[in-house]
Amino acid sequence: MTKTMIGVIGGSGIYDIDGLQDATWQSVESPWGAPSDQILTGTLDGVPMAFLPRHGRGHVHSPTTVPYRANIDALKRLGVTDVISVSACGSFREEYAPGHFVVVDQFIDRTFAREKSFFGSGCVAHVSVAHPTCPRLGDACYAAGQAAGITIHKGGTYLAMEGPQFSTLAESKMYREQWGADVIGMTNMPEAKLAREAELCYASIAMVTDYDSWHPDHGEVDVTEIIKTLMGNADKGRALVRGLPALLGADRAPCPHGCDRALEFAILTAPE
Ligand code: ADE
Repeated sequence: MTKTMIGVIGGSGIYDIDGLQDATWQSVESPWGAPSDQILTGTLDGVPMAFLPRHGRGHVHSPTTVPYRANIDALKRLGVTDVISVSACGSFREEYAPGHFVVVDQFIDRTFAREKSFFGSGCVAHVSVAHPTCPRLGDACYAAGQAAGITIHKGGTYLAMEGPQFSTLAESKMYREQWGADVIGMTNMPEAKLAREAELCYASIAMVTDYDSWHPDHGEVDVTEIIKTLMGNADKGRALVRGLPALLGADRAPCPHGCDRALEFAILTAPE
């Protein structure tokens, strides 16, 4: 049995949590560069927590320039065992409406201008990301969302696009009709892949802010609308996170899905 430490990567508003004890902003150094920002650590219901603003306070990093490797590495160095990603997304499904949350369980990675692995030259490893999120952690997020009275959907495929522009209408229709994606966003990849390489359980809560551009009854995506919906969602996001420590508990059994042992059969380079 090890001890749980929950890491939350999200936007502003998510870390103003009531009851976070011994809250301290900490600088964490990483050989992969500087993380997006300092990390807010504290204890919630007896469980250590670490909050990392993905874009930095002041929103200084675009989805492309977020230092994903440094962020995951910094959380790992702090002792985080379970990472919750909280992010905005567009929806490809009528029933996943703005204001709803989705516990994402699959990804289509269309990003192309980001460092995606800790394993380049020197040490080569190929981890499986067939099931890129942790079902145990996802179930806890879903339960916490339901307990908080949020309209939350279990399961969905997240199309990760490079951005920063939104999709064209043709792309939006293709992702929805041909590729079967349920939601679209710009930040969950390579974050999810790196979390797996770092042997961290990872779950993603996608907060629906818009219908992207495919929906005949809704206009094009508009950042003002996204921000308005996000502001309205901040309380819900906080309430979900607030419920997680009690659900996960301070003592942590090994991940039944093996997320925390992902490197066991993945490293190709011979030990020196
Ligand atoms: N984030 C929020 N809405 C989005 C959309 N429609 N496309 C990509 N990223 C988003």
